Amino acid sequence: MSNNEKFLWGSATSAYQCEGAWNEDGKGPSQWDIFCHTSKLNINNVSADISCDHYHRYEEDIKMMAECGQNTYRFSISWARILPEGTGKVNPKGIDFYNRLIDTCLKYKIIPNVTLFHYDLPAAIAERGGWENRKTVDDFLNYAKICFEAFGDRVPLWATINEPKYYAYCSYLAGVYPPNVQDFNRFACVGYHLLLASAKAINEFHKHNYIGKIGLVHATGNVEVQGNDEASKIAYRNADLFYNKWVTDTCIKGYFPDDLFPKLKESNIDLSFVKEEDKPIFMNGTVDFLGANIYSRSYVKPYTSGETRININNVGANSNIREGVVIKGWFETAYDENVRRNLWGREIYPKCMYDELMELKDKYGNIPIYITENGHGCYDEIVDGKIHDDERIEILQEFISWMLKAIHDGANVKGYYVWSSMDLYSWVNGYKKRYGLVYVDFENDNKRIPKKSYFWYKDLIAKFEGRNINNE
Ligand code: BG6
Repeated sequence: MSNNEKFLWGSATSAYQCEGAWNEDGKGPSQWDIFCHTSKLNINNVSADISCDHYHRYEEDIKMMAECGQNTYRFSISWARILPEGTGKVNPKGIDFYNRLIDTCLKYKIIPNVTLFHYDLPAAIAERGGWENRKTVDDFLNYAKICFEAFGDRVPLWATINEPKYYAYCSYLAGVYPPNVQDFNRFACVGYHLLLASAKAINEFHKHNYIGKIGLVHATGNVEVQGNDEASKIAYRNADLFYNKWVTDTCIKGYFPDDLFPKLKESNIDLSFVKEEDKPIFMNGTVDFLGANIYSRSYVKPYTSGETRININNVGANSNIREGVVIKGWFETAYDENVRRNLWGREIYPKCMYDELMELKDKYGNIPIYITENGHGCYDEIVDGKIHDDERIEILQEFISWMLKAIHDGANVKGYYVWSSMDLYSWVNGYKKRYGLVYVDFENDNKRIPKKSYFWYKDLIAKFEGRNINNE
């Protein structure tokens, strides 16, 4: 980073998780609206119909970000708000809303960082096969073009897709997100189409003179393996392909790792969705930067036995589900009993921030990185009108210290976003798993109360004002 380029400090949300107004002003239903309203697998039995009502209260939220010293806000656009049917007629009120949102950011000197797709596929597209249908790739391109044309004059940072891996994994392998499928072949096909859609949108973006840069957001988290024998080395590579390299190699270098398709074939995956004609699209559709959502590492060991299975704890403290995966023929989760865990059983391992950033630096020519999400989910409560979220502060501080060390050691990090700006709907985890810097009192008119972490973040940002982050 050059000395006069300002480091970005901000926070992030996504459309379905915070906007509410699920059927207002011409918005069409998304796959998540239908899932939350109708599916038995919606285990917490809540929806984001209203959530924190960001659709109406965005100015209050952006003002709070500005008062905290944040100079950037990452949010996503709801595809079904722009195109209620996913394709076809544009909803002018949807365009108006995002114009207001972007202009409000600019009014408060907050740089908008816009993600085009953050899980909430229009229901009409989901009905005709969603991301399994190759046509969705071009539907996404059409939607992306509309957004670029409408907002490209004011948005400096764009991301095509939020977490192709984690989204495809939860929706088509673990089956906890709609359409609740558990099938390795369908997972692979969806993953491929997501990356193709991203590459096509990036190709398109680069043809024009928009003011911004464009990337993809990946749920990173480096892989570590328990042993160091030959089988462990193979398990490491398999897990790294599975969790990271099919996304990062493809969107940064422009081609899939050489050993990915042979490995998939070994698992009897029908690769007919891979087309020769796509190669130049991937090659010309590489990212300007990588958005890295960093929460935890993946700790693995060699595959032992049994069918592919995924255990995810979406219940929280009282669940007896132990998180972990077995990917038949590839690897399985290893458990490090010495590492802290959150109430959902996931590792709290802030050093993964450093390890991941250094790996990205070494493997990908020091590509610019934005930490597009980093956060800590827990139960927060109001005590005497305040929220003393010391645990969140402690953990975020550790993550940030590791980020600063990576920057000091040469990683090209340009910004950092706390997940999340305020409490919001945490997908199938519902509302009890809170991540916000600002508490939302969902029972009392969605009142906003800044948490202790909000003031901690404000102090931290102020401390860096006018200093060169590379020297920290
Ligand atoms: C990220 C997503 O993977 O993690 C967010 O981009 C999500 O949308 C966040 O809310 C926290 O995950 P969870 O499952 O705890 O809500």
